[in-house]
Amino acid sequence: MNRKQYVYILVYTCLFALFACKQENGEYHNLNDKIESESKNYHGTSLSSETYIGDVKTIKITEGVHTFLIPERKSQIQSFECIECHTKPIDELKSNDAKKKAHWDISLAHADGEVMNCITCHNGEDMNNLNTLTGVNVDFNSSYKLCSQCHSSQFEDWKGGAHGKRIGGWAPPRASFTCVNCHNPHDPSFKSRWPSRYNTKESEESDGGVEH
Ligand code: HEC
Ligand code: HEC
Ligand code: HEC
Ligand code: HEC
Repeated sequence: MNRKQYVYILVYTCLFALFACKQENGEYHNLNDKIESESKNYHGTSLSSETYIGDVKTIKITEGVHTFLIPERKSQIQSFECIECHTKPIDELKSNDAKKKAHWDISLAHADGEVMNCITCHNGEDMNNLNTLTGVNVDFNSSYKLCSQCHSSQFEDWKGGAHGKRIGGWAPPRASFTCVNCHNPHDPSFKSRWPSRYNTKESEESDGGVEH
């Protein structure tokens, strides 16, 4: 073999080696390489809900085996901080003039009046926090903890994602609406409404479809 032939053989061997593995598995040497490389962006999913969650301010909670985000509430509550006014016991705050009720826009339509009143959830001693039935403080951002005391089955479903709704898509991170995003804690049930297509009774729709 002369020198020239030797170089040819060398070049052909190299080219063969190069294309041999390219042909079988694309650009990869073996199937394992291919799986590993192509699943790099695929730990669960390469999609993200972050853009859909957008500007919603969230907090991270852990309940049992579930860790997820829920919307922050305090910045959304108009009359927070409560202690701007609630510096003394409610009795001393109360005005004799019935027309000057501070929270005139809030009336309870939740459980029976014998079961529930304002103090069931609002601590007269520390108005900036909510309180459980046993008097433990609960932050306004964690108000779902109040609801879970009496609505444990909905709470279990909510933790697992079966009750309620996500803020973004199904892709991580998981961000879910919290109870008070959908239910007014003072009047939590949804009012019945007329289906809009069959509604020939506009007057009833305008007052929320309440039956007369
Ligand atoms: C602008 C002042 C002001 C702010 C802010 C305010 N309150 Fe009050 N609140 C009052 C006054 C005054 C009363 C006394 C009752 C009345 O005159 O209606 C009262 C009464 C109450 C009562 C008792 C109602 C009753 O009928 O017994 C609760 C509960 C309450 N407030 C909760 C809150 C919570 C919770 C916040 C914060 C999210 C808050 N308040 C913020 C002024 C305020
Ligand atoms: C079942 C529990 C519960 C009861 C009972 C309850 N509240 Fe509340 N209240 C809440 C929760 C939870 C929030 C915060 C909701 C949120 O995050 O928007 C709240 C918010 C408020 C706020 C702030 C509302 C705002 O947007 O500024 C006031 C004022 C208030 N409650 C007063 C009262 C009064 C007065 C009563 C009695 C008539 C009462 N609450 C009964 C749970 C309760
Ligand atoms: C002290 C117990 C108690 C707490 C705390 C409580 N609830 Fe209730 N809730 C009740 C009772 C009792 C009823 C009325 C019975 C029923 O309809 O299931 C009720 C009714 C409801 C309903 C209407 C059910 C229906 O069938 O229409 C909803 C929704 C609801 N609550 C949501 C909440 C949310 C959200 C919270 C937290 C902010 C909360 N509850 C906190 C006891 C409670
Ligand atoms: C994304 C909105 C949403 C969130 C978040 C949400 N709910 Fe509901 N909830 C609903 C709807 C819609 C219904 C059905 C109302 C109907 O059928 O009239 C409902 C029904 C209920 C009922 C009535 C019984 C039933 O199952 O039909 C209770 C009690 C309740 N929710 C409690 C809660 C509690 C507690 C939380 C938080 C742990 C919560 N919900 C979170 C939307 C929501």
